[in-house]
Formats: sequence, C-alpha cells, structure tokens
Amino acid sequence: MALIQWDSSFSVKVAEIDRQHQKLVFMVNELNDAMKQGKGKDVLGGIVKGLITYTGTHFNTEEKYFHRFGYPEIDSHKKEHAAFVKKVSEFKDGFEKGTLGLSVEVMTFLSDWLKNHIKVTDMKYSQFFNEKGLK
Ligand code: FEO
Repeated sequence: MALIQWDSSFSVKVAEIDRQHQKLVFMVNELNDAMKQGKGKDVLGGIVKGLITYTGTHFNTEEKYFHRFGYPEIDSHKKEHAAFVKKVSEFKDGFEKGTLGLSVEVMTFLSDWLKNHIKVTDMKYSQFFNEKGLK
C-alpha cells in the first residue's frame, strides 16, 4: 500500500498546484517502495535527486503566485519551504557520503511533512488564490 494515499482532502482547488502535489506524493511513494524493495544506492539516490529538483520547481510555482497576488502569509510560508529544502539537502548529503541511510524514520518525516504542509499551510492560500481567479 502506498505510503501516502491521495484523496480530495489534499486538494487546494488550484489545478496546476494539485497536479504538482500529486506528483510529489507519487515520488515520495516511489522512494518508499524502492527502499522497501531494497533497491541500491544509485536507484535511491536518483529518486532523491528527482524529488529535490521537483520540490524546488513546485515551491517556485507557489512563491511566484504569492508575489503576483500579494499573498499576506508569504514570509512564514517561504520559511517552511526553506526549512524543508535545508533538511532534505542535509539528508541527501548524508546519504551520498554514506553517513545516513534511507530509513523508515526518514520516509515518515518526508510523508508527514508533505501531508501536513499541504493540508495545513498550503490549504490557507486556497480561497485566497481562488478569489484572485487562480483555480
Ligand atoms: Fe505545496 Fe507550500 O508547498
């Protein structure tokens, strides 16, 4: 069973952003499956890199709209993004150096962060964006 099960409670009612969130959920699930299947470091490392790159793309999309529409909670939201990027980069460095393995704890952190961030922090802009015509 997938680590994160997508359902309508994840929807921020903005099609482009929902699609990106679904892709992030897919990638976290893919990483979890690969870890459970005992895939090698190269395979796992490739998925981690892809996840980091796509996370950056996604955060840039949200932040572009924050600036465009003058979203009032931009600073606190961007801080959450930056903290996550830092944490995942540290994880990637440790993984590449061999000082940190991919574990159930790491996967739990990733999935909990993503679920919480989408359902609590991202959800706060849903109505704001819709009112600006972004759907
Ligand atoms: Fe969907 Fe704020 O990340």
